[in-house]
Amino acid sequence: MSAVLKPEVRFRPITEADLDRLLEIEQQAHVSPWTRGIFRDCIRVNYICTVMELGVGIAGYSIFNIAVDEAHLFNICINPQFQRQGFGRILLEHILDQCRERQAKSVFLEVRPSNVGAIALYESAGFVEVGIRTGYYPANEGRREDALIFARDV
Ligand SMILES: CC(C)(COP(=O)(O)OP(=O)(O)OC[C@H]1O[C@@H](n2cnc3c(N)ncnc32)[C@H](O)[C@@H]1OP(=O)(O)O)[C@@H](O)C(=O)NCCC(=O)NCCS
Repeated sequence: MSAVLKPEVRFRPITEADLDRLLEIEQQAHVSPWTRGIFRDCIRVNYICTVMELGVGIAGYSIFNIAVDEAHLFNICINPQFQRQGFGRILLEHILDQCRERQAKSVFLEVRPSNVGAIALYESAGFVEVGIRTGYYPANEGRREDALIFARDV
């Protein structure tokens, strides 16, 4: 029998004190990074805002909300220095666990068609494409990029 070693991670709610560090990671990781105001608003309206920590610091974070029995994932981000080491998958599994605990029945998210890494992660976790939002994201030189909508049952 083979043992699968899982890295030691800890999950806790995001606080205002995390925002300086989260903004640094956000700016390194995202094409269109969120602002401090967006993070603050998400905390203020009690979205489910989670930091994933390793002993050495913040590995990633996620923000989602549940309305009735539908969860909507607004942000999932892994610190670039920890990407491609399985942490995105661990954080996504934790989000799905949180959804189950709160009796959500389905999870929806938007992703840029150009974000092949995120799409591969979602598809490998059982998400399927269910629609497109035209011109949803800002892109370079004033252009817009569509969003693919992915969903899965919880
Ligand atoms: C998308 C993101 C969360 C993935 O996190 P990660 O920790 O790098 O992903 P993992 O190491 O857990 O990878 C899980 C699987 O996803 C897929 N994947 C992840 N990154 C990939 C990439 N760059 N290219 C291709 N496949 C990728 C692979 O199938 C991978 O499994 P494998 O390593 O066994 O091949 C991370 O790249 C990130 O934070 N990106 C910036 C923010 C962002 O785009 N968020 C999503 C917005 S919708």
